[in-house]
Amino acid sequence: MILASWENRLPDVIYWGKPLSRGENLEDLAKSTMIAPTGGMMDLVAGVSLSPEEAGGFAGHPGLILTDETGYNLRPVFIFKEAKESANALELVFEEEDLTYIFRAKADPETNVIKLSASLHSEIPVHVHWMAAPVLPGPQLSDEIITFTGRWCGEFNPTRIPWKQGSHTASAPGGRTSHERSPSLFVPERGTTETQGNAYGFHFGWSGGHHLIVEELPSGERQIQFGATGKLAPEDAPFETPPLYVSFSDKGLNGVSQSFHQEARQILKYADPSRPRPVHYNCWEAVYFDHDPELLMDLASRAANLGAERFVLDDGWFGKRDDDTTSLGDWTVDLRKWPDGLQPLIDHVEETGMTFGIWFEPEMVNPESELFNKHPDWVMGSLDQPTGRAQWVLDISLPEVTEYLFNAISAILTEYPGIEYIKWDHNRVLPHASQRQTFALYRLLARLNETHPNVEIESCSSGGGRIDFGILEHTKRVWTSDSNDAAERWKIQRGASYVFPPEITGSHIGPRICHTSGRQFPMPFKAAVAASRAMGIEMDLRELTREEATEIRNSIATFKTRRALVHNGTLHRLESADADVIAEMHVSKDGNDFILHAAQMQPSRQQIARPLRLSGLDANAQYEVRLDNPEQIVEVMNRGEKNPLLMGEKVTLSGRALMSIGLQLPNSFPDTIWTVLGSKI
Ligand code: GLA
Repeated sequence: MILASWENRLPDVIYWGKPLSRGENLEDLAKSTMIAPTGGMMDLVAGVSLSPEEAGGFAGHPGLILTDETGYNLRPVFIFKEAKESANALELVFEEEDLTYIFRAKADPETNVIKLSASLHSEIPVHVHWMAAPVLPGPQLSDEIITFTGRWCGEFNPTRIPWKQGSHTASAPGGRTSHERSPSLFVPERGTTETQGNAYGFHFGWSGGHHLIVEELPSGERQIQFGATGKLAPEDAPFETPPLYVSFSDKGLNGVSQSFHQEARQILKYADPSRPRPVHYNCWEAVYFDHDPELLMDLASRAANLGAERFVLDDGWFGKRDDDTTSLGDWTVDLRKWPDGLQPLIDHVEETGMTFGIWFEPEMVNPESELFNKHPDWVMGSLDQPTGRAQWVLDISLPEVTEYLFNAISAILTEYPGIEYIKWDHNRVLPHASQRQTFALYRLLARLNETHPNVEIESCSSGGGRIDFGILEHTKRVWTSDSNDAAERWKIQRGASYVFPPEITGSHIGPRICHTSGRQFPMPFKAAVAASRAMGIEMDLRELTREEATEIRNSIATFKTRRALVHNGTLHRLESADADVIAEMHVSKDGNDFILHAAQMQPSRQQIARPLRLSGLDANAQYEVRLDNPEQIVEVMNRGEKNPLLMGEKVTLSGRALMSIGLQLPNSFPDTIWTVLGSKI
């Protein structure tokens, strides 16, 4: 990344991409990027600086919008004061009268990700209406951007939008990361695919909602701004933007994703390789609020018998929580349902060999709760606002509220040391975006992590409503979506994989009839979808036939033998010639093994399967390759003499052949996932 400053003003990023050669003459390079104004323009083309300045002549959306106490717009033009450089990090300080703007960049050569942020200090009281994280120019040789839209049960939907004069803006105003707008942006250059070409990636590490501006000026200049939603008052000073993580790759969109995966792994520090991520059993879609200790123990025994390693007691164990209209805030065990407390269940779970986890939704309160009766003033916003899922949000920026929550959660964790995992939920948007709320959440999570270092926290927010690098500083797993519909989930987790590594994104085998879509899928399909991420089961296990139970047991046993590859390897989303096939593969850390999953989502438009090209292999190596599930081949669709792969036989092919010719997989019914295994010889 190369920055150039003109007349000591805020610099522009004049280049960002493939490293240039060491001997590059940076001064000449900077000068050669100077733009000559043409007719109808200002006499100076103010470039896209780290915070583009209106008063400096920038014609697009400014990077900073400020007013003083009287409401008067401040339009600073910052002048360089000093630079501080350390290994892979740079801090630049700029001033104007009462204001100081500090730019920070930290590059991680191991992950290939640069973390950017800025802060603003003021000698006078100011209101910040908008402050973008350091602004980068949009690549010129690019025809489109990829944003991630979505909804509840349909998160992480990559959406391509053409560059055009004017701006594309996207907001997540609800005070959480959101289902609707994941705070990531990919910019492919022309001709870039998943597996080749130049691509740029951005991820805004903030859990409190964001605003994105992608703008092309009439001049043709392009800029990308990410900022937190919510205005800031003088008492919020000094103002600090959340970090913007950026990465470039010349190896396609996958290259950027792989860098983000490495970065996420660094952030969440799941450093104990001797402890693989456990297979979950979650009781939510089995029993909902209907907690009967005997039944839950029975489900635990069944889950352990299938191979689950962690039992999660979901919503319904506290207060008088018989449905979702009551008790959020009352974090004591419901003795009507659990007369002897939770210990008998925990003991039972541990006897089966599993560990124990529990659900909380700390930031919320039901109007029908003891907490609300005692502290109506703890609610964020007015009491005549509508409820969402019958609940309001607690203003956790009040120290007494976080103190209460810390103590309530700590008391449960102390009473039940068997709890080693929390599913931390957040099911309602805030009445207004509030950065203070997000900072308070981070502090609360950090304090709990520090006090209970053996408890792992998962971030859930009605499924995938709060998944970002900010929350990953404090959590170890995310609940990707409330949709356990395997076909939907296959797409959702592919979308999530643009930024988040497979091992942190939870994926469960759901009930026979999916509770959120009413659809039904074959068990091998459901199991393969879950086994490609952080695997789990979430259903009433009593509904399983003996055959289905065996299928799940076998798929979990197989998953465990491949977990290291899937969870520590490199994920490659594949380009499929067939629009009805969505495929990906994991290559092991040492590059010796791979596992490929190709899902037939619906009947193909053509009669015969199109060959599928692989990615991420050593072109010159030979691989022994075989189809792992030939028993799923439908004879009438694959007649006559067969390709040896379809017979379950091993074939030896070079990496080059696999990546340029590809594999001819079976013609298949929809809702089938072909699994192919390969090893270097
Ligand atoms: C949210 C979560 C679900 C479940 C319920 C419990 O919707 O996303 O997984 O925990 O809350 O109320």
